[in-house]
Amino acid sequence: MVVAIDGPAGVGKSTIAECAAQKTKFLYVNSGSFYRLITLSVLKSGRNPESKKDIIETARECHFEMREKNLYLNGKQVKDNIHTDAIDKWVSPHSFIPRVRDIVNRDLKKISEQHDIIVEGRDMCTVVFPGAEIKIFLDADLKTRSFRRFQQGVSNLSIEEIMMSLEERDKLDRNKPVGRLEKSPTALYIDTSDLTINQVCEKVVAEIFKRL
Ligand code: DC
Repeated sequence: MVVAIDGPAGVGKSTIAECAAQKTKFLYVNSGSFYRLITLSVLKSGRNPESKKDIIETARECHFEMREKNLYLNGKQVKDNIHTDAIDKWVSPHSFIPRVRDIVNRDLKKISEQHDIIVEGRDMCTVVFPGAEIKIFLDADLKTRSFRRFQQGVSNLSIEEIMMSLEERDKLDRNKPVGRLEKSPTALYIDTSDLTINQVCEKVVAEIFKRL
């Protein structure tokens, strides 16, 4: 079974997907990490991160699989830190390239044929898994999402700065030529602004048990 979760940056997709996966024993798949690993591979290979040709060439050499709960790239378990400043800087433009998206989506689909998965990412319900048994669009207002990011304590920015950067990302994500952020008309919409992580997680888990 495929449970696809999408929604804007900072809404808590990873937290919710991970929590629901733990409770249902489904496999948690974070599609953003695939894009991050392609960017890391470009940087490690010494290729030019500004060259579309170099990025596509690198992406073509990347084969992703899940074994147990772990992500493997070209047969090796991924242990690298994929949340570095350099990756943060390049991953967004790299993820804009349609050929790169095709490669990531091909491997996500393969993984979904082998496991029951909860997969999260901006275009999971609309583009990659439009036929998923369960589709969920998580949302929250900008202020709430900025506060959640701020509370994570991973950013040195002020709440106001986080708010501006999330607003900017929303704009970019909603206007991507391929894989843009939008709610699928058939996805369940959950406004998480006034809900705790547990309350949202329970809603997702309840949907899954309803279908099992
Ligand atoms: O969720 P994240 O920050 O780890 O995602 C990394 C980058 O990949 C980010 O720029 C958004 C992009 N991404 C995407 O375009 N489509 C997805 N399904 C997941 C992530």
